[in-house]
Amino acid sequence: MCGIVGYLGEKNIKEVLLNGLKELEYRGYDSAGIAVLNNDRFSIFKAVGKLENLIEKTKEFQTQGFGIGIGHTRWATHGKPTEINAHPHTGEESYVVHNGIIENYAILKNMLTKAGVKFLSQTDTEVIVHLFEYYKKNTQNSFEAFEKTVQNLEGAYAILLVTKDAPDRIFFAKKGSPLLVGKSKEQEFYFASSDTAVIGEAKEVHYFDDGDYGYVSKEEIRIFDASGKEKQPHWQPLSTNKLSAQKGGFRFFMEKEIYEQATVVADTLLGRLLEDHIAFEELDETLFDQINEIKLCACGTSYHAALASSYLFERVAKVRTSVEIASEFRYKEPLLCKDTLFVVISQSGETADTLETLKMAKAAGLKTLAICNVDNSSMVRLADASILTRAGIEKGVASTKAFATQMSVLWMLSLFVAQKQNSITKEVLQEHLQTLRTLPKILEVNPSMHERIRRLSKRYLHGHGFFFIGRDIFFPLALEGALKLKEISYLHAEGYPSGEMKHGPIALADPELFTIALLPKNLLFEKSRSNIEELSARDATICVISSEVYEKADDHISIAPQPHYMQEFFEMMVALQLLSLEISVRLGNDVDMPRNLAKSVTVE
Ligand code: AGP
Repeated sequence: MCGIVGYLGEKNIKEVLLNGLKELEYRGYDSAGIAVLNNDRFSIFKAVGKLENLIEKTKEFQTQGFGIGIGHTRWATHGKPTEINAHPHTGEESYVVHNGIIENYAILKNMLTKAGVKFLSQTDTEVIVHLFEYYKKNTQNSFEAFEKTVQNLEGAYAILLVTKDAPDRIFFAKKGSPLLVGKSKEQEFYFASSDTAVIGEAKEVHYFDDGDYGYVSKEEIRIFDASGKEKQPHWQPLSTNKLSAQKGGFRFFMEKEIYEQATVVADTLLGRLLEDHIAFEELDETLFDQINEIKLCACGTSYHAALASSYLFERVAKVRTSVEIASEFRYKEPLLCKDTLFVVISQSGETADTLETLKMAKAAGLKTLAICNVDNSSMVRLADASILTRAGIEKGVASTKAFATQMSVLWMLSLFVAQKQNSITKEVLQEHLQTLRTLPKILEVNPSMHERIRRLSKRYLHGHGFFFIGRDIFFPLALEGALKLKEISYLHAEGYPSGEMKHGPIALADPELFTIALLPKNLLFEKSRSNIEELSARDATICVISSEVYEKADDHISIAPQPHYMQEFFEMMVALQLLSLEISVRLGNDVDMPRNLAKSVTVE
């Protein structure tokens, strides 16, 4: 997730900006930059990699007296992490920083190029500053030009823009990406994408609403809503605890990341889930040529995403698909054919076992694709092609939003392949596209469901273990629910296909055996219910997760009735994540840093 800072006032602007960016480092980035206007002169500095590279570049730079400045840490979405692609982006005499994705940037870039504008970067952001200067040429009024620019942007954005013609103003706009403005007693203004960056500087903050735009100057702040109507800022006192601010008021990063899934999945879909088809502009058209099989390879939670998506690749894209656990695949002397597309899935892009399988596939001459959350990671650099999941940095060791975004990408990829193979009707494709569009809403945590799970969790703190059971694509989800519980509660749990319980494990059934049963209404409902019946008949303690009430269950976690099984999949995913979280909290464990675990397993 990118970070944005801005400052208007008399302090040392460079220090204020760099200190603010330091507080946003936890969000993850791969390049950074600042632009400062002081004594009628612009200075701009950008650097790839960590913030100290930018600090090194700016060590001789000082400012004197009043000035304005903007800064940014970039998490690459469009275009590789290079200095050219780092923000701020510049026009002839203006600079802009931006979080989010400008969905109509290609159209705007095309129009501006035809008007003679020269673009330097591969980013979507650069169109903002050129569009602003394009309008300013006609109006000669910076605010009007900025207003018109914002009115012509589509997508999600948090923007700060400065220009030489308005040396005492910072222009801002917010839609779909967080942005706030802070003020201190001395009539200075601070901007940031997260309040951690202004704690200790600003005394009060105003959180912008979607559609807000305007500017600050020495004298005033002026805010306009999406309809152009002026509105007053709602100043509120700023919390002073940085760590709790980084957690956004949640108890743990894992909890925050569960709640973030609605917004990060919206980012994942942006620019890919289009009106009547799926597009991956990062994929070369020929990647799937002569491909008759897809092999997915990963570890842990990423393996569960791979296994779940294999049902979609075969059911929707009609492509033979196999799934491998990377640590097993490495030594099984596999038969690899060149008509197989080898796909690695990894949040970190650095997992040793998965990375080694990627090397094996490349050595065997297979086309390779990496689905990762970290740009310029080893797997992204090594694979022939890559798709970024855009989950933002995931601090909780137990993966949540990374899994949600992996599933979203893989589901879209199965549709993308189906489009290319002509193996899907327009009606079925539309049904999936329509369902995908509901994901951000589906993923919003229902507070009453969370409270229900919190209360329920007190019953599941002992026993001789858990079975998580599901059928079809809900079996890998059962595996994931079991892994979540194991990881952070240290209680034994096993994911199992519902239909397999009668082939042995049912011998364990008794009141001390806890079974979390996934019961989707839209997929194999009757079959799944009869499997649960077999367990309840033997007095196992059963918690059913379903939109349907199952009268013989001991407990029930309700999800909303949905028309599509993939909507049930994501709703149940959130319930499973919350269940493991609340059991772990009751057991007093360190939810974010469970014992014996590392966020990225870069050793065998
Ligand atoms: C998931 O909660 C775990 N942290 C772990 O299983 C993880 O998914 C696995 O180590 C793979 O990591 P990767 O996605 O970064 O490759």
